[in-house]
Amino acid sequence: MSEMDARRRAGELARDYRERGDELNWFEALYAGANRDAGLIPWADLSPNPLLAEWLERDKPDGTGKRAVVIGCGLGDDAEAIAARGYDVTAFDISPSAIEWCNKRWPETRVHYVAADLFNTPDSWRFDFVLESYTVQALSLSLRSQAIAAVARLVAPGGRLLVIGRLAEADEPRERMPWPLTRAELAEFESAGLRQYQFEVMMDAGTRRFRALYERPA
Ligand SMILES: C[S@@+](CC[C@H](N)C(=O)[O-])C[C@H]1O[C@@H](n2cnc3c(N)ncnc32)[C@H](O)[C@@H]1O
Repeated sequence: MSEMDARRRAGELARDYRERGDELNWFEALYAGANRDAGLIPWADLSPNPLLAEWLERDKPDGTGKRAVVIGCGLGDDAEAIAARGYDVTAFDISPSAIEWCNKRWPETRVHYVAADLFNTPDSWRFDFVLESYTVQALSLSLRSQAIAAVARLVAPGGRLLVIGRLAEADEPRERMPWPLTRAELAEFESAGLRQYQFEVMMDAGTRRFRALYERPA
C-alpha cells in the first residue's frame, strides 16, 4: 500500500471513531489491524525521526544517570535512539498492539515499553528528558490544551522537553488531521511553567515543521 493510501485509510478510521464520539481508540484499531505490516502505519518510517537524530547529533546529550520518556512512541525507533545516548528510557503509547510490536522488534532493548494514556499517566512520572514528536498534532483540537498540559507535566524540575511537529501559519485553516500547532498553542508550554530556549522552523518537501526545546527551571 502506498503511503498516501495508508494515510487515507488511517484518516477514514479516525473519522469513523470520532463520529461516534471516540477520540482515541482508532490508534489501537489501526495498529491491531495492521498485523505488524508497518506499511499500514502512515507515520512508521522504521528509523528515528530525522529532526530528532540531527538534534541528538548536534546536542550530544549525555543521558547517563538520567531518565527520559517518549510520548506516543509508535514502533520505538525514537526511543531506541535516545536510549543509545545512555538515558534510562520509558516509551509509552496508548495502543497495546504498538507496545507488543515494539517488544517484538527490540527483543534486547533497555527501553521500558509501556501501554499508557498521555491523559492518565502515573502521578510519579517526572523525567529529565521528554520527547513529544507528532502525537499532540494527531489529537483533536478539542484535546489540544489538555494534551499540552499533560506533556509539560512529565518534565521534572531541571528537565528538558523536545517538541517536534508541523507548524501552522497564523491564518491557516486546520480542517484535516494532522492539525499543525500554532505559535499560540506552543506558548501554552510556557504557561505550564516551561521556558522555551530553542526554536527552529524548517521546510521539508513543502511541509513547515518545527523543533522546539524547553526546560523547566530547577
Ligand atoms: C502520529 S503518531 C506519532 C508516532 C511517533 N511519535 C512518531 O513521531 O512517529 C501518534 C502516536 O501517539 C499515540 N497516541 C495517541 N494518543 C495517545 C495518548 N493519549 N497517549 C499515548 N499515546 C497516544 C498513537 O498510538 C501513535 O502511536
